[in-house]
Amino acid sequence: MRLLLETVEAIRAAVGPKFPVAVKLNSSDQLEGGFGGEDALEVVAALDRSSVDLIDISGGTYFPGAKSASDGAGRGPYFLEFAKRARAVTTKPLMLTGGFKTRAQAEDAMVSGAVDIVGLARALVLEPSLPEFWKAGQKTEPVFPRFSDAPDGGITAWYTMRLTEVGTDTETPVFSDLGQAIQDYEARDKMRTEVWLRHFGHEAMGQI
Ligand SMILES: Cc1cc2nc3c(=O)[nH]c(=O)nc-3n(C[C@H](O)[C@H](O)[C@H](O)COP(=O)(O)O)c2cc1C
Repeated sequence: MRLLLETVEAIRAAVGPKFPVAVKLNSSDQLEGGFGGEDALEVVAALDRSSVDLIDISGGTYFPGAKSASDGAGRGPYFLEFAKRARAVTTKPLMLTGGFKTRAQAEDAMVSGAVDIVGLARALVLEPSLPEFWKAGQKTEPVFPRFSDAPDGGITAWYTMRLTEVGTDTETPVFSDLGQAIQDYEARDKMRTEVWLRHFGHEAMGQI
């Protein structure tokens, strides 16, 4: 918590009072004996006293074997109950990210009074214009691909590669398969590692 709070204040000192600074905070890392709801509430209360402008509530970790928030039962947003508890300990604007798939879910979360902003990740990867459609009152909902027997890391690789396609305007209506996504993801990482080593390799080796 001290690391986070000192980082927030150092960033504030660097960017000045008008630049928006937000924190994306885990409500739980879903690890046994790890960072849980009570810890997170303490951090929210401390952030309330900080100069941060917005707290985005989320959860989970990429730690191998950790339960994914999307493994949980229910189809709605993952951390709404926690957001309600956080609302009681802060007056900062709260954003909630994780599990939003439909406009109705987003509206319900807003109406609950617990959150001020809804965060979308995968839904935006699937339909980058979604907020525009929703604001225009259209009923458009993103089509979430279903993957059965997904290999480890497959779904993250798939969304990452899809995001890369969206960023380069090369996405197609056809969803590629997870095996291909993992291969592309690993190839991209390898290429990036080579670029990184070309630039920083000597220094990094010097440190080691
Ligand atoms: C391809 C991809 C990359 C992500 N990268 C990050 C990241 O760098 N940092 C982070 O805090 N969350 C990251 N996330 C998690 C999302 O921000 C979000 O918390 C999570 O996907 C749940 O929201 P959703 O149900 O709207 O997808 C990533 C998610 C995806 C799908």
